This record gives sequence, structure tokens and C-alpha cells, in this order.
Amino acid sequence: MEKRQVHYTELGLSNTREMFGKAMAGKYAIPAYNFNNLEQLQAIITACVETSSPVIIQVSKGARSYANETMLRYMAMGAVQVAREAGSNIPICLHLDHGDSFELCKSCIDSGFSSVMIDGSHLPFEENVALARKVVEYAHQFDVSVEAELGVLAGIEDEISAEHSTYTKPEEVEAFVKQSGVDSLAISIGTSHGAYKFPAGKPVPPLRFDILEECEKRIPGFPIVLHGASSVVQEYVSLINQYGGNLEGALGVPEEQLRQAAASAVCKINIDSDGRLAVTAKIREYFAKDPKEFDPRKYLGEARKELVKLVKHKNETVLGSAGKAD
Ligand code: G3H
Ligand code: 13P
Ligand code: ZN
Repeated sequence: MEKRQVHYTELGLSNTREMFGKAMAGKYAIPAYNFNNLEQLQAIITACVETSSPVIIQVSKGARSYANETMLRYMAMGAVQVAREAGSNIPICLHLDHGDSFELCKSCIDSGFSSVMIDGSHLPFEENVALARKVVEYAHQFDVSVEAELGVLAGIEDEISAEHSTYTKPEEVEAFVKQSGVDSLAISIGTSHGAYKFPAGKPVPPLRFDILEECEKRIPGFPIVLHGASSVVQEYVSLINQYGGNLEGALGVPEEQLRQAAASAVCKINIDSDGRLAVTAKIREYFAKDPKEFDPRKYLGEARKELVKLVKHKNETVLGSAGKAD
């Protein structure tokens, strides 16, 4: 059977244009939660419906192949349907996170995504522009939003210094945005992916808000995206370590700094690791406390409940997106 081309509006999804416009004007950020499976998606949608928050549900290339692209399309459609049946009209965007090729972006657009990221951040400037431009030309025919990235997110092992900077260069953002035609731009200001964002045992260095401000000045009113924005919730790290895990020294971005980012031109904040930690912590705790249990609904149900709590907390007290879909 041939795969049918599906437009995101058939699935009831929204692109990011209106979401970002409102977030910019209202000085908050749209949460972008990564998911791979049913329970994560259920939790994200439940929490966003209960807090009346617009939401971006996003999948990496790996998550898409894990979940299966056809299954994923119907999961997204189901998520919209569940929200509507609950009487909620929150806008829901399905986004490809860190797309690594034109072909992958095209495939996602053709299967119903309403937004894609083309991550050419490792490429020289001109190649990054050209790749983003190519994706934009395809995506915009279908009104699909495109995110790109300038600057490389720090890894724990990277030396963050002026000389070896992988931070976004503010002097490049204007030309990049103009030449590529993208709808939003991810920048690098000191965050990184995963659970080990900063060296343990030292004070957490502040994000480079000076770079963010310089970028904002050069592209006023243009939506900026923050990746690597998990706080690495310490209660979860402790639970995981208490119940047989080993995540010594895991550290993330303090919530106060995320609040500051959300009030700026940062319109989208990406969160994956915190969700993974919540799920893992609750499953570990469950297994340790009830070693006889083997019904996945029991321990996955506990994990799902915790994820609802986490997402509500983020929307209400960190990103400021709660109530914004009213
Ligand atoms: O930025 C990457 C996301 O956290 C997704 O990670 O490729 O392991 O699904 P993944
Ligand atoms: P975290 O690893 O900090 O959750 O970042 C997720 C992310 O940026 C996905 O693109
Ligand atoms: Zn990312």
C-alpha cells in the first residue's frame, strides 16, 4: 500500500506562526516536549489541556523510527481528538526535532507534521543557509513552519571560552534569517542536551543573556528557540540514584533562568531530559517498592501521572504558557 501525503490540517494540527506571535507579544514561551511513546504523549496532552497551554509535541529522527511514522501520525491525530473531546481548543503543533536532511524534513511534511527543524548548525554558514533555504522552499508551499539553528550547543566536554566559542555569533543572525527565510532560529547561549549540562561541584554558570540580547537587537520580533532547556530536576535524580540508578553529578538549567528566557524573544523552549527523568524515577521507585508487580499499566501509569505533574509545573511556573490558549 502506498503512503498517502497528508496535510497537517487534516490531523487538526497548527503550525507555529500564531503561537509564536502571541508568545512574543505576551512574553512567555511555548513548551516543546519530546515524546516517543503513548504514555508520554498522553501525559503532555492531559497537562496542556488542564493548564490550557498551547503546545509543541516534538519527535527526533530516532523517536520517529522508534514509534513508526504511520503510528505517529495517528497518535498526533488522536492527541488532537482527545483534547477536543475534553472541550479544549489548545493549538497543537507536531514538530520534527533536529532534522538532519532535506529528505527527512520532506518526509515529515508529507506525513502531516506542521513544523520541522533543519539542523545545519554544524555546517559552514553558507551551507547551513542553503540547506535551510531548500527546506523552507518546500515547507512553505504547505504552510509548514521551519526552525533552523546557528551556533552549536555546548557539550559538557567543550571548553566554553571566548576563543573556542560555539555560541551563536549575533552578527550572523540577521543575514541567516533573511537569506534562509526560516520562521524561527535556535541559538546557542550556554545550554546543552542531556542530563549533564554543567560540571558538578561548581556553581552553575549563568546563560549568556548578553548574546541573546544582541541577537534580539539584530532581529527584533523574530522568534528565538532555546534547546537543551531541561532543569534536570534534582528530586528525580535523587530518586533514580536512591533506587539503583547512577546519575551522579547530573545538573541542568535553573528555572529562574528559563523564566528570564521565556520573557524575552525566546518563544519555544525544548524539554526532553526532564520528562525522561520523571518517567525513569517513578518506574525505578515502583519496581523497588513492589518487586512482584509485572503489569506495565501499573508502573507506566505512575510514570505518566508524574509526567502530567511535571508538565503542568513547567507550563504554570516556568514558561508562563498556562492559560494562554483560553
Ligand atoms: O535534542 C535531542 C532530543 O533530546 C532527542 O533525543 O535523538 O535521543 O531522541 P533522541
Ligand atoms: P534537554 O536535553 O535539555 O531536555 O533538551 C531537549 C532538546 O533540546 C530537544 O531538542
Ligand atoms: Zn535540541
